[in-house]
Amino acid sequence: MAAVLEIADLKKLARRRVPKMFFDYADSGSWSEGTYRANESDFQKIKFRQRVAVDMTNRSLATQMVGQDVAMPVAIAPTGLTGMQHADGEILAAQACEEAGVPFTLSTMSVCSIEAVAAATSKPFWFQLYVMKDKDFAGRLIDRAKAAGCSALVLTLDLQILGQRHKDLRNGLSTPPKFTPHHIWQMATRPRWCLGMLGTSNRSFGNIVGHAKGVKDLRSLSSWTAEQFDPKLSWEDVAWIKERWGGKLILKGILDAEDAVMSLQTGADAIIVSNHGGRQLDGAISSIEALPEIVAAVGDKVEIHMDGGIRSGQDVLKAVALGAKGTYIGRPFLYGLGAMGKAGVTKTLDIIRSELDVTMALCGKRDIRQVDSTILR
Ligand SMILES: Cc1cc2nc3c(=O)[nH]c(=O)nc-3n(C[C@H](O)[C@H](O)[C@H](O)COP(=O)(O)O)c2cc1C
Repeated sequence: MAAVLEIADLKKLARRRVPKMFFDYADSGSWSEGTYRANESDFQKIKFRQRVAVDMTNRSLATQMVGQDVAMPVAIAPTGLTGMQHADGEILAAQACEEAGVPFTLSTMSVCSIEAVAAATSKPFWFQLYVMKDKDFAGRLIDRAKAAGCSALVLTLDLQILGQRHKDLRNGLSTPPKFTPHHIWQMATRPRWCLGMLGTSNRSFGNIVGHAKGVKDLRSLSSWTAEQFDPKLSWEDVAWIKERWGGKLILKGILDAEDAVMSLQTGADAIIVSNHGGRQLDGAISSIEALPEIVAAVGDKVEIHMDGGIRSGQDVLKAVALGAKGTYIGRPFLYGLGAMGKAGVTKTLDIIRSELDVTMALCGKRDIRQVDSTILR
């Protein structure tokens, strides 16, 4: 196996090991994928100032996100269907995060359930909530996350209706799932993936099947999902969710300064500047471009996180320099997982940690908490 030195190496490996329809599900944005690409390429436009003859010993990446200690300002973003990149994907990624000292966020649309991830880990993880029309079900999800000891709730606001992803439609991943000879061929050519899947019972949407009324299998689930996301979601909904949850609340999917100002009224602990990894509004600006104006608008009143396009520790450092107290990675960890399971997620975090550490030093800083925009040109 060729050396794995950067996230792009893990992506190459994942492409070889994960059935095409699931690899494509991760590696896609909506419509033209312009915003998906801009999320990555806009990081390249930001330049560091190289500093020399500065003491670079005793460096620290440790900091806090929503008052919780983290080994570095990087969390795992919630991603649906993670257990289809690799058998038991959510459990393996949560375990890798626990060992690395960074937060793992479990998606509502995960394959392994909240309870399954809690049973396989010993430190609290975070739970991401999609608001459904069935408020009773959403409320029960919140209660289940509480019972599992989750230490933050990430409420996603940018997916009331779904942006169209061409690759998913072309692959037939859209609802209802079809298992044609073509799909069976895609899976049969990935024997390692198949073996993993045969060895686990986690093969459906674990948070939903058997928990939501009338959903017993994947087929009824597909129509349920299409009908269930709530297009009427409003700021008032955030209030009842905050109350029912009662713990740390993070609002995900803010890309506009006006919405950032609106979000202040909710009393949320943090907001995530995000465009859902370029999977929703194609033509929206990249997250890293949006970050400075949101920091300028509300940065002194609420903790600001960001995600979208981070592919290296250098990218994390740029986001932190522009005012993000924390960042999240989506595809980088999915590529690691698809490439090498739990060891691949650990590798993803190791790569990003070491890039972040050395780059911070070369910018003349020893403590991530001291990094600000003065490290940028
Ligand atoms: C395959 C995939 C599935 C996703 N599923 C969810 C989800 O269930 N809930 C959510 O809030 N965001 C979801 N997202 C968005 C991520 O949380 C995050 O915003 C995005 O991946 C960050 O961009 P990056 O992949 O470039 O790091 C998903 C992203 C991907 C790539």
